[in-house]
Amino acid sequence: MKNIDWSNLPFGYLPTDYNVRCYYRNGQWGEIEVSSSESINIHMAATALHYGQEAFEGQKAFRCPDGKIRVFRIKDNAERMQSTCRGILMPELPTEIFVEMVRRVVLLNERFIPPYESGASLYIRPLLIGTGPQVGVKPANEYLFIIFVTPVGPYFKGGFATNDYVITRQYDRAAPQGTGIYKVGGNYAAGLRANRWAHELGYAGEFYLDAKEKKYIDECGAANFFGIKNNTYITPKSSSILPSITNRSLQQIAQDLGYKVEARPIPEEELSTFEEAGACGTAAVISPIAKLDDPERNTSYVFSKDGKPGPVSTQLYKTFRDIQYGILEDKHGWTTIIE
Ligand SMILES: Cc1ncc(COP(=O)(O)O)c(C=O)c1O
Repeated sequence: MKNIDWSNLPFGYLPTDYNVRCYYRNGQWGEIEVSSSESINIHMAATALHYGQEAFEGQKAFRCPDGKIRVFRIKDNAERMQSTCRGILMPELPTEIFVEMVRRVVLLNERFIPPYESGASLYIRPLLIGTGPQVGVKPANEYLFIIFVTPVGPYFKGGFATNDYVITRQYDRAAPQGTGIYKVGGNYAAGLRANRWAHELGYAGEFYLDAKEKKYIDECGAANFFGIKNNTYITPKSSSILPSITNRSLQQIAQDLGYKVEARPIPEEELSTFEEAGACGTAAVISPIAKLDDPERNTSYVFSKDGKPGPVSTQLYKTFRDIQYGILEDKHGWTTIIE
């Protein structure tokens, strides 16, 4: 792959050699199929197109310093997709099929895994869609599960760095008893306006409060939130946020490093007491927050005076990355070596 500039890859779609597919028909999952086509042929009345019966996931494969390929907590992604399936009445894909398809698609596209030194990785995108036709609002009878991969650039090109975010009160992402806890496309469509609004104002992204009371912290764009104070890692407990696998891992790492961990509702006012804060998710692991503005209240919460990431966020980030790359011992059995 002489012509790929690994260090300057965007977070975009670059074609690779193969994707893997598995169809659900007549009440059962079929054999794993390998395809070199980037297209799918879909019925115009498919439920995915009309009624949003679709789920996706996101993960990364890394080329590690020991030369091995690792993926992180892939079974947890399989289980989260199963939870999404229960949420929007789709058949659950068994974990073994999910994991085997990840293994196959990564190995089939091995030449697209960026080298360790580049900081880039191979993004893995599992997608499950209702393909069977329905005109009434009902679940489909047929489904397609597909995984494609694409190399993506390092999130922090100039090193681990902070960003500014803005609280949106005029747009909601998800209702308290809606689909916010599931990874369905509709949640992301619901966030597009808020995201554009935040970017137009010059922020890295939008920040959501709970939709019902507009009182508690929900999510930071397409990432979970955490704050640090008094040696404690504090993260929102909410019925409308995606259960982030990165956040769950950071809570464990924080505990392993001797911090206290609290998952509970966080009122907006408490933001002023945090010594550090960050957004967390697969894309960046941690995106430390320098400043969070609430324009409607004419308030700014500042978590970094010099614009640099704080010491606890930096320690958590480094520990997390070193586990992902097989540099630190994986004592919780989170990584899978793909061979
Ligand atoms: C809405 C939302 N919240 C949080 C996350 C972070 O989740 P994870 O750590 O599993 O990537 C994501 C990304 O997957 C997301 O889309």
